Amino acid sequence: QTILILNGPNLNLLGRREPEIYGHETLADVEARCRAVCPAGVSIDLRQSNHEGVLIDWIHEARESATAIVINPGAFTHTSIAILDALNAFEGPVIEVHVSNVHRREAFRHHSYVSGRADGVIAGFGIEGYEAATRRICTLIGAGH
Ligand code: DQA
Repeated sequence: QTILILNGPNLNLLGRREPEIYGHETLADVEARCRAVCPAGVSIDLRQSNHEGVLIDWIHEARESATAIVINPGAFTHTSIAILDALNAFEGPVIEVHVSNVHRREAFRHHSYVSGRADGVIAGFGIEGYEAATRRICTLIGAGH
């Protein structure tokens, strides 16, 4: 089984961008932490794009190639009906992750188009949120029992 961990715009700069908000760890650290919590037989496919259409194409591909999706859509969280529609066309479980607590930040970050589709939402746990999401997804797909 494969968990697709999708990251949207500016998350390639994770660890270097506004570290007081997003911390010092990078996407490579996220990948290592998520691999470490995965039971045998579950693989992680972590990707990042700054382009909405690329993220949408990857969600479409996931219909064939992934069991579940963990997604941090970055700023597209707050703008993208198209990413919501793509996720609605994916049948497996979806967990939404935000490194920062979006609810404590600007009002424009309080609404997420993705949350209405997500099976769970994590915000403000730093990059540990990705690990928690990965564990939860493994429970939802019945892996590691
Ligand atoms: C973010 C929160 C978004 O509001 C922001 O645009 C990001 C990152 C987070 O992980 O905290 O790019 O998704």
